[in-house]
Order: sequence, then C-alpha cells, then structure tokens
Amino acid sequence: MPAINIRTTLPGPKSQAVLDRRDAAVSRASFRSTPVVAASAHNATVTDVDGNTFIDFTAGIGTLNVGHTPTEVVAALQAQAADLIHLCAIVGTYEPYIALAEKLNALVPIDGPKKTFLSNSGAEGVETAIKMARAYTGRPAIVTYEGAYHGRTLLTLSLTSKYALFKKSFGPFAPEIYRVPYPYAYRCPHCRHAGACNLTCFEDLERALLAHVDPAAVAAIIIEPVQGEGGFIPADYEYLRRLRQLCDKHGIVLIADEVQAGFCRTGRWFSFEHSGIQPDLVVMAKSIAAGMPLAAVTGKAAVVDAPHLGGLGSTFGGNPLACVAALKSIELMERENLNQRAEQIGETLMGRFRAWQERFPIIGDVRGLGAMCAVEFVVGPGDRTPNTDAPLKIVGEAYKRGLLLIRAGLYSNCVRTLVPLTIGDAELDEGLDVLEASIAAVA
Ligand SMILES: Cc1ncc(COP(=O)(O)O)c(C=O)c1O
Repeated sequence: MPAINIRTTLPGPKSQAVLDRRDAAVSRASFRSTPVVAASAHNATVTDVDGNTFIDFTAGIGTLNVGHTPTEVVAALQAQAADLIHLCAIVGTYEPYIALAEKLNALVPIDGPKKTFLSNSGAEGVETAIKMARAYTGRPAIVTYEGAYHGRTLLTLSLTSKYALFKKSFGPFAPEIYRVPYPYAYRCPHCRHAGACNLTCFEDLERALLAHVDPAAVAAIIIEPVQGEGGFIPADYEYLRRLRQLCDKHGIVLIADEVQAGFCRTGRWFSFEHSGIQPDLVVMAKSIAAGMPLAAVTGKAAVVDAPHLGGLGSTFGGNPLACVAALKSIELMERENLNQRAEQIGETLMGRFRAWQERFPIIGDVRGLGAMCAVEFVVGPGDRTPNTDAPLKIVGEAYKRGLLLIRAGLYSNCVRTLVPLTIGDAELDEGLDVLEASIAAVA
C-alpha cells in the first residue's frame, strides 16, 4: 500500500485556515517551503490536519535521522518529564547531562582527553566553539567559507554566506571574519575547465593568510566538511588534510561544523571521518536529539576548558528532556546501524539521480556523501548558469503529489534530500518516484 494518501485538494480546508492564521500572526519574514500543516508524524511520513499523508524527504531539515516520533525516544521523554523537566545546569547537576557528555566524549573521534558543553541550537553551538577558540588562542580572527551556513545569530550570521536570503539589511556584522572559497568542484573557477582538480583552491586560503589576515591572529577556521545550505557539497578529502596541517602549523583551532552532516547522515558518525582528519572542536545539533532542541561542542579538553569559570552558560542548554532524547537517539543509531543504512540509502539516491541527469538537461550536477545527496539545476546542457526557478517549482509539484522537499545551494538552485535514515525501501522508492515525476513536470 502506498504511504502517500492525498484526500483533499491541497492545501485542504483545515490547513488553509491555519495558514491564514499563520499569515496574520507570524512574521512574514518566516519562510515556509511547503504549505503542509502537520497534525502528526511517524517515521518517514507526516499527516496534515486534513488527514492527508505525505512522505517526508526533509526530516525537519536534518533533525530526524532516527525518524519522526521514535517510540523509544517518546517513552524516554515521557518518563523524564514525569520526574524532572528542568533545573538549569548553572543551578545544579542532573545525571542525563553528564551521561550525554560522557557519551559524546567517547563518540567523537579525536585523540586524547575530550570534554563537552551543551546548548540549545546549532547557532549557539557555533558561537560557543568560537568563544572557546578565542579564549584558547587569545586571538580574534575567524576564517570561514563562501557558501557556509552556521546560523542566524549575529556572530553566526557574520560567518554565514548567501547575502540576499540570509543577511540583507541585518548588518553591521561581527568584525575579524575572513571568507575564502569552498572547494566546490562543480563551480570551481580554477579547475572547471582544466578537467582535473589540482586543489588550486587551497592556494586561495594560503593567499588569504598573506593578503587579508595574519595567521598568527587567526583563532579558528570553521568548515562544514559537507556544506549543507551551500548545496550538499563534500569538501575534497585532500583539501581537509591540508587544512589540518595548515592549522597545526599556525596554531589555529580547526572547528568542524557537523550540525547538518552529523549523526550518521553521511554514513559515518561525523562527515570529517571520511577524510581521516581530526578537528579540534566538533559542533553538533539537529539530529543529536530526534528533534528536541539541543547542541553540543565536543573537543580537545584544553580548548573546551579554555573559557574562564562562568564564561559559558545557558538557561535551557542541555535540558534534561533534550539529554534523554539524545541518549536514546544515539542508542537507536548504534543498534539500528544507521551508518550502514545511510550508505544504502545514498546508493539508491545516487543511482536514481545519475539516471535523471542523463534524462533531464536541466540537471547539471548530482552529488552526495552517504545519504546527504543533492541535485543541482542549471539552465541547460553545456550551460552551468544556475537555474534558480526549477527547485522552487519542483518543491511545489512534489507537495501536490505528496512529498515534502526543500531546496539548498548558494544560488538556491539545488534540491536536497534529507530522508529519515529509518525509512523503508518501499517508501524511499515511492518518494523518489514522486520526485522524478515532479522534475519531469518542471523540465
Ligand atoms: C551546518 C549548520 N550549522 C549551523 C546551523 C544552525 O543551526 P540552528 O538552526 O539550530 O541554529 C545549521 C542550520 O541549518 C547548519 O546547517
């Protein structure tokens, strides 16, 4: 039996009523990818308030690698809520916070002693990592990347790229931030016409440390080993290895932002593992806690301990409910071997994407790592001009057919797939059939 079940015109009447209230009550700046109004969601499906059921290829923008409302996480939340909803880690201590820190210290593959600090969101995690790096090095500057997305608070927005959508009218931004090109093979200005990558883009970074900022003033380089909002672009592994060497040479803290790519999405616990490097700090959020708001920074104990006593804190960070949800989610990922499942899902996705690339001239590039895969749309064959209309139309067509999708990319010209890693093969194929029909309708 198909998972998708559309019974009304879309959006249905009850959904439309809530959408009208949203328009009246909520800031118009809050974008929504689809008009779905959710009533409930389980594993890889979402049912709206009119009783229509959709397959979800967004997983709460990558927060639900273990699927919607996993029974064991729900039970852990219910049991914890009955005993202790909140205390605040500044006021006192509760065991789930400590158990989670211990678990993350064991899970994050960095040699030597490690420590952890918990907060609420990816942006707060990134801010915390920057504070740690500055306190540790005594230096001000941060190097970040074109296409990067690190959040929307003022410091993280300063690190984030993509001006028109995220940053317009919100400046001035934080000082001492230097931006270099990301190793984006499909749009590399150096190698695109040369036929083979020779990592000339790494020289852009080395030149920036001559031309724009003294490496002795750089506290941290922050990188998404697979760019998320930027369009699901895996960084070249050799680039990451050279980056590690460069940070070692200049005493710079290397921060891996694993907020979107972490927790099995790419077939490893963290996407940097594919390259064999070890960052100094790892920022995690999204799928760490099955949709509960939680972020963590785990890394070398000396760096995590660098801020002064009282220098880090948060009213809600590491809330007991979020901690038990994270502990249970990690247990599920281990038990269900979601790393292996991510690899399988990735093979299915890339198999279909490659076939579509042959069929649809508006598909320029298909790429991914594990189950973090995307399709990049262009104007036509032999013309890589970004096609910024197609993804929005495809997301709309998919919604009409019962599939939830979101875009990505510096040019908003990609469709990304963030399939819950617990999805069954039948639902995965059904969702992909809808995606193919939606691309066909637009192409
Ligand atoms: C790589 C990365 N870092 C940081 C963030 C910010 O996370 P949050 O929205 O939880 O603040 C995101 C969000 O999409 C992200 O993808």
